[in-house]
Amino acid sequence: MLTVENLVEEYKRTHPGSQKLHEQAVKTFAANGATHMNRILDPFRPYITHAKGSRKWDVDGNEYIDYVMGHGALILGHSHPAVVQAVQQQMAKGVHYGENHELEIEWAELIKSMMPMAERVEFFSCGQEANMMAIRLARVFTGRRKVLRFEENFHGWADELIREDSAGVVADEVNVIPFNDLNKVEEELATKEYAVLLTEGGGGLLGGRVPIDVDFARALPDLTKKYGTIWVVDEVVTGFRDAPGGWQALVGVRPDITVLGKCVGGGLPVGAALGRADIMEALNPRAPLERRIVHTGTWNANPLVCSAGVAACKLYQSGEPQKKARQLADYFRQKGNKVLKEQGINGRLYSRTTPHLYLGPIDYEPPDDTMPPTRDIKKITDTAMVPIQARLCLHLLQRGIATMTGGFFILSAAHTREDIDQTTDAFGDSLDAMIAEGTLGETLRAR
Ligand SMILES: Cc1ncc(COP(=O)(O)O)c(C=O)c1O
Repeated sequence: MLTVENLVEEYKRTHPGSQKLHEQAVKTFAANGATHMNRILDPFRPYITHAKGSRKWDVDGNEYIDYVMGHGALILGHSHPAVVQAVQQQMAKGVHYGENHELEIEWAELIKSMMPMAERVEFFSCGQEANMMAIRLARVFTGRRKVLRFEENFHGWADELIREDSAGVVADEVNVIPFNDLNKVEEELATKEYAVLLTEGGGGLLGGRVPIDVDFARALPDLTKKYGTIWVVDEVVTGFRDAPGGWQALVGVRPDITVLGKCVGGGLPVGAALGRADIMEALNPRAPLERRIVHTGTWNANPLVCSAGVAACKLYQSGEPQKKARQLADYFRQKGNKVLKEQGINGRLYSRTTPHLYLGPIDYEPPDDTMPPTRDIKKITDTAMVPIQARLCLHLLQRGIATMTGGFFILSAAHTREDIDQTTDAFGDSLDAMIAEGTLGETLRAR
């Protein structure tokens, strides 16, 4: 029986196999035994053996409803039969020919059919690689060097992309400015020094923890055009998750370059840059030397990834998986917000697709729960909430619910309403326990 005082002890007792593997891993992996910063948790995260649909299981036989969903790559759920079949068949035919092949064309054409801005397509091994290429393409096209980015937007860990909280390694030519401030954007762009303006589709952090103002987004194409800057929209999270046409289709904007990752590979590692033919012409070996970019990459469009990507994109085209995940997100927010209200907690689940958990003062009543109950970005990203979310994450894990940080719930079309009923019950129990043990924090109690 889980009592409020002994969560860590209970967790260790029910996860002995994971604890043993964690103790082994810390001797090898510098990041506290993990290979990704979001897989670090005190005392340790479960070690997973297999996954299917909305669920995954650990070495100790514990079952989880999964809201990590491959860091957002699995809108079809774990091991969708169409993807598994395609990959198994391709595996037997050859993983990598080191040659051109038909599947890469089929995959790129499927992408083009969903994203009309994609006059040309280029494949990579991951999202950040595609972002790096987008920056390079923009630099060559404009003859400028500088990169303009927004605070609270995430694009990867390379020098041009990394957030500023990482040991001062942000590249010199990068300028990071506040989000949703059009005057500031214009002031910077007017210097005509910027090759590129990078913008995360849907808002900052995993599909829009920090929502983007739609009017702001809609003003960016004209503003970048006016000052000769290339507008790159990073749809690594939102591409094919928000809609077949991505976030840009929902708001009606057309970037010069779109970057994809995660879902587009159907669960296998990938990145893609899609863009205007004149900008991507730099990849043509016949382009003049001073305007030419070499692109190598052992794993670019290898047949195995292409087979998964084709199978997944065929399913995305209908818009049905996205619709189902969105409907489940609505149901999740509705039930989860009832829990928060009944327990008198200052907080709200919000967003268009992935429900994000805001914990903090409610100083604004949005028209609906697609938006957080504050317009103050600092409150949304308040780092004081990180340990509280981590505690919630552990409580949820102990109740069979896996989240990445305790701060958001990534849904797929494989989740069910029963999964969500079970999850919101566990969410309520976890919050009850946190109130009782005093880890929720007095400021979050509304009464
Ligand atoms: C918006 C966004 N862009 C880029 C990336 C980097 O993609 P990858 O991890 O595939 O390099 C991520 C990863 O989470 C992301 O969320």
